[in-house]
Amino acid sequence: MSSDMNADEKPGMAIMISGTGSNMEAIISAAKRGSLSVRPVLVVSDNPDARGLKKAKSMGVKTLAVPYERGIPREETESAIIGAIKAERAEWIVLAGFMKLLTPRFVQAFRNRIVNIHPALLPAFPGAHAIRDAIEAKADITGVTVHMVDELMDHGTIIAREEVAILPGDTEETLAARIHAVEHRLYPRTLQQLFHEDF
Ligand code: GAR
Repeated sequence: MSSDMNADEKPGMAIMISGTGSNMEAIISAAKRGSLSVRPVLVVSDNPDARGLKKAKSMGVKTLAVPYERGIPREETESAIIGAIKAERAEWIVLAGFMKLLTPRFVQAFRNRIVNIHPALLPAFPGAHAIRDAIEAKADITGVTVHMVDELMDHGTIIAREEVAILPGDTEETLAARIHAVEHRLYPRTLQQLFHEDF
């Protein structure tokens, strides 16, 4: 907890997304219900057309779109994100389907304060197509991992994992639906434990 925060004040949280934002929605809903004790202060997207941005606005959370332009160094683009997160005094950064790799400078700016969710049992199937990759590998079991973010892709200390069976005849869509259901339950619960050190 930072020194300028009251002991009884809920920590601030920024969420970073690239697309639908269904995990973001589950997290903001949990915060509104009170089962996740945190203030969602900002939703950031690298994709100005992300569906999740509209959803965040409709849920009353401030949004920011910061497109990564070709030819512009990532650090420069990230500076706008870092500035906005600091201005909102977010203590935590929650990646929820944010599909850009953060630079070491970003990770160092918020060391041990960035969390990610991934639709596989890491270290298996990192990357942007984990659900498809698990089906193509003919795995029997995949799942969901929540982890702290370090400089590598889908990498860092694992906080929670839950298995999801791959059923005969599963398509990417049917498996994704079951994985998302697990994510929407597991992510808010794990964040509550992490933010309030209740492990
Ligand atoms: C989620 O399944 C999340 O685990 C995955 O993107 C999806 C975003 O869905 N993240 C990764 O693959 C990270 N490598 P959402 O926008 O509906 O929350």
